[in-house]
Amino acid sequence: AQVTPKYVALADVEVAGTTIPAGSPVWIAWAAANRDERHFEDPDEFNPHRSGNDHLSFGAGIHACFGAPLARLETQIALATLFRRLVNPKLVTDPPPYRKNALLRGPSELRITFDGVRRA
Ligand code: HEM
Repeated sequence: AQVTPKYVALADVEVAGTTIPAGSPVWIAWAAANRDERHFEDPDEFNPHRSGNDHLSFGAGIHACFGAPLARLETQIALATLFRRLVNPKLVTDPPPYRKNALLRGPSELRITFDGVRRA
């Protein structure tokens, strides 16, 4: 899909050995930083118990996500409920197919099987 860049370099700037000329449109893919192997041990591993988890999924600075506390609470409740109630959940395809989106990374679908549902 055609996307409109949100940011423009105001001056020549060097990033990791590459000069981005002033006036260049740039996309800041902050989610990529969550997989920086210089910052995280096993960056591609899903580890909900990871410590020192200073990721950028909710952005940073003055425009950091306003709804992050709500999103965290909703996710904790939803995942905890799901895993408490589903018996033996398993991924059908591991890894699942990923959507083609340069900015928002995630599965296009996440099919699972399970053997039953426990009472709430
Ligand atoms: C897992 C869920 C969510 C993720 C991953 C997420 C991620 C983000 C990110 C990365 C930004 C920064 C965008 C930027 O720098 O331009 C942002 C901004 C924002 N988010 Fe979220 N968000 C989530 C849920 C929510 C919810 C539930 C709400 C509201 C109830 C919300 C409200 C906002 C608002 C208002 C901003 C703009 C803040 C500003 O510009 O000052 N988000 N979000």
